[in-house]
Amino acid sequence: MRLKNKVAVITGAANGIGLAISEAFVKEGAIVIAGDIDEKKCAIEAERMSAGGAIVRSIGCDVGVMENVDRLIHAAINEFRRIDILVNNAAVSIRGNIMEMPEGDWDKLMNINLKSIYRTIKLALPHMVKQGSGSVINIASTQAFRSWHDWTAYAGAKGAILSITNQLAGQFGEFNVRFNSISPGAILTPMNEQRAIEEGPDYLARSAAMHAVKRMGTPHEVAMAAVFLASDEAGFITGEDIKVDGGLCTLPRYIE
Ligand SMILES: NC(=O)c1ccc[n+]([C@@H]2O[C@H](COP(=O)([O-])OP(=O)(O)OC[C@H]3O[C@@H](n4cnc5c(N)ncnc54)[C@H](O)[C@@H]3O)[C@@H](O)[C@H]2O)c1
Repeated sequence: MRLKNKVAVITGAANGIGLAISEAFVKEGAIVIAGDIDEKKCAIEAERMSAGGAIVRSIGCDVGVMENVDRLIHAAINEFRRIDILVNNAAVSIRGNIMEMPEGDWDKLMNINLKSIYRTIKLALPHMVKQGSGSVINIASTQAFRSWHDWTAYAGAKGAILSITNQLAGQFGEFNVRFNSISPGAILTPMNEQRAIEEGPDYLARSAAMHAVKRMGTPHEVAMAAVFLASDEAGFITGEDIKVDGGLCTLPRYIE
């Protein structure tokens, strides 16, 4: 029960890594405010997780829209009067060669994957500062560290997330608010299942091959890093990025 009674807001909580983080947090005793654009799936998962007596709230929330994020943050504040943990997880994967990528795709990706964290942090941080405690976990990606053809926008947003994490860790440490990030390698989630459909049947095998451990990761393996960063055990860790990447970044280069 490493997160007992801590109030956690998690975006993109209906599937994949966000869902695994929600499940792991519930198991560790947290109260979870799960936000997702897929309101229906989010509600189903929240109901399932609450079955054993846990407190899980489901909020329909498009992180690309300030009013939606406001509703998510206020769901936590209005009912529980605090936010101990914020996990910025929601993102979309849009591929595109920069010479061909429509401006609309670039803007959409930046709005959902990057500007969203401006919205959540802007609204949650004042409460954490007031409380004198908080842990913000931003989900980045190993793509921020590796060149990967046609993923410029996605990787650029993740790189910016690493910088923002570092900036805010320096500024808000004195209020006992910690900012860290997690950079996953290729994780078997609906996001990658979709890419397997788009890129062909050998996509999953190629993804596995680019890791030192020669397999893809599981959402649970990412979630356990989030549990640690959210917990008081990580009280002296801020401005850090944890790679949960099966050694992808230790290899000399990305294998296309
Ligand atoms: N899967 C991987 O291999 C991998 C690797 C590195 C980083 N990541 C990052 O991990 C995070 C989760 O990825 P995943 O693989 O679980 O993705 P996923 O597509 O499987 O799940 C993402 C969830 O976010 C929700 N979502 C999408 N747009 C949203 C919006 N505008 N507002 C609110 N919710 C929205 C979706 O409905 C979905 O439930 C993302 O930040 C992703 O960039 C994933």
